[in-house]
Amino acid sequence: MVNTMEKRTKMCGQFRPGDIGKKVTANGFVAKYRNLGTIFFVDLRDRTGIVQIRFDKTSDEKLFEQCIKLKNEFVISVTGTVSLRGEKNINKNLPTGEIEINAEKLTILSEADVTPFFISDDVNANEALRLKYRYLDLRRPYLQKIFAMRDNISKVARNYLSQNGFMEIETPFLGKSTPEGARDYLVPSRVHPGEFYALPQSPQLFKQLLMIAGFDRYYQIARCFRDEDLRANRQPEFSQIDLEMSFVNDEEDVMEIAEGLIKELFRECLNINFDKPFRRMSYKEAMENYGSDKPDTRFDMKIKDVTNEAKKCAFINFEEVIKNGGKVRAVNAKGLSNTLTRKNIDEICDYAKSCGAKGLYYISLKNEGVSSSISKFLNDEITDSICKIMNAEKGDIIFIAAESKDKFLLETLGLLRCFIAKKYSLIDESLFDILWIKDFPLLEYNEEEQRYVAMHHPFTSPKQEDLKYIDKAPEKIRANAYDLVINGQEAGGGSIRIHDRNMQKKMFDLIGLSEQDIKERFGFFVDAFKYGVPPHGGLAFGLDRLVMLFTGVDNIKDVIAFPKVQNASCLMSEAPSPVEDKQLKELRLSIQNDEQKNG
Ligand code: AMO
Repeated sequence: MVNTMEKRTKMCGQFRPGDIGKKVTANGFVAKYRNLGTIFFVDLRDRTGIVQIRFDKTSDEKLFEQCIKLKNEFVISVTGTVSLRGEKNINKNLPTGEIEINAEKLTILSEADVTPFFISDDVNANEALRLKYRYLDLRRPYLQKIFAMRDNISKVARNYLSQNGFMEIETPFLGKSTPEGARDYLVPSRVHPGEFYALPQSPQLFKQLLMIAGFDRYYQIARCFRDEDLRANRQPEFSQIDLEMSFVNDEEDVMEIAEGLIKELFRECLNINFDKPFRRMSYKEAMENYGSDKPDTRFDMKIKDVTNEAKKCAFINFEEVIKNGGKVRAVNAKGLSNTLTRKNIDEICDYAKSCGAKGLYYISLKNEGVSSSISKFLNDEITDSICKIMNAEKGDIIFIAAESKDKFLLETLGLLRCFIAKKYSLIDESLFDILWIKDFPLLEYNEEEQRYVAMHHPFTSPKQEDLKYIDKAPEKIRANAYDLVINGQEAGGGSIRIHDRNMQKKMFDLIGLSEQDIKERFGFFVDAFKYGVPPHGGLAFGLDRLVMLFTGVDNIKDVIAFPKVQNASCLMSEAPSPVEDKQLKELRLSIQNDEQKNG
């Protein structure tokens, strides 16, 4: 079929009063139509917005007969003359709201069946249906705007990095499995039966090899794959703005470039200027005050240690924890004591329990007096001194917890403070609160595997001054690593790498890798260290997370064109799916059924 479609003059959302009197062509989807008997209106939509088309029976009866066949989502091309809308029809909320196109020619380019849901921002279809027909969901202006922002962020990042001497280089998708971190997605090899590629969790090793290759500064908007549990800000396939640079002295060298990038993104994409350097906070300070290495500091509610006061309470739950070396800590929900009902307090306590806390206790400083779930164990002196520590006054409510494992206690109270702040609107959502977290521990002890594992990854360099702990107390060594946290979300992270082969060997030793393990997993990488390695470091920002933050979206699926759902499947394409026996045979694979698996 040959379409007699005229070349479009501009996109639908771009028509303005300046076009009045001009003959134009617009193409798009029928978003809405109204038949008023002798006048037929169409809202014509493309990704830039909507323009109103007017068909008038009195001026062209044949054309009118044609237009009344239009239905929602038909794809059409219209040629006509732009005119001012009648006074009553002006829509001030729409950039094109003052004008309309008086149609003189209509070409139906594609008809459309009734869509499974009406395409509009106040869509009432459930998420599963929208994801099954994602290409229809994506027609919604809400999602189109998000993808315009995503595109802008990528463009600004590319420009900024290019201007700062970074070269864009692609690294392989089919790589080697190096199990250290999340679970890999594996791809069987046909040519090498029984062998597998792994999809990259990040381009980490390759970008370091590019430094060894002399590229000096690399970047890539890299797709990464991690087979881990999904969350509101996690997808199995996601993108990083990944960078690496040579001849760096210390963390600040990388942080300066990365901070510059973030400031440029805010300036260019949101018109927000950050003049001052981003705040720096140590991992220790973040954990002790906020119970998280990605603290949301848009609200205060710091965690405080009340162990000494709790000791005086003669409350068995506190006593036992303290006896086992644990701590008692608390947060002050400022100004909430008169707001929170009994039911609200129960809900907060239930939340703490759902995080695994043994219990949560409160002291409420109501206008009419103090009430507490542990009033039996308190006296005025203890209450006063807890209030003093918590900086609490009338109208506040203090939540207290005790656990023998202090890290767990801090993390629980960290989650609790966010839960309370979100639920009771203590957060100014218009703020962007950005900080660097530094001085992470190099290693953490993995109880299950009974060994140390790298907290960031095994290529992160230790702080020189902490090397004295290497033999006796490796957990005390801090790393040259940094994370950028925006509004309580980890937006990015990186480190200065080890560039000395002996140090790299030592690091592998610390995480319990044998010579054999090293050779098998990282042989090519370790080999490269023999041939001249510039000091280097880098970082990766989660692109999807940046888009979420920039658009105020709290579900990562909204910023990915074709996302996966909770069980890592795609509701539209139905991936993953079984494959034909022939394909399995070629790969020399066979699938165990459940009985075989259990047996
Ligand atoms: P890291 O593992 O911290 O570092 O990842 C960098 C950033 O990527 C984002 N991110 C994710 N986004 C969506 N879904 C996921 N499943 C997901 N996992 C991570 C986060 C995170 O801050 N190679 C190192 C970087 C380096 O050292 O240079 C790395 O991958 O925003």
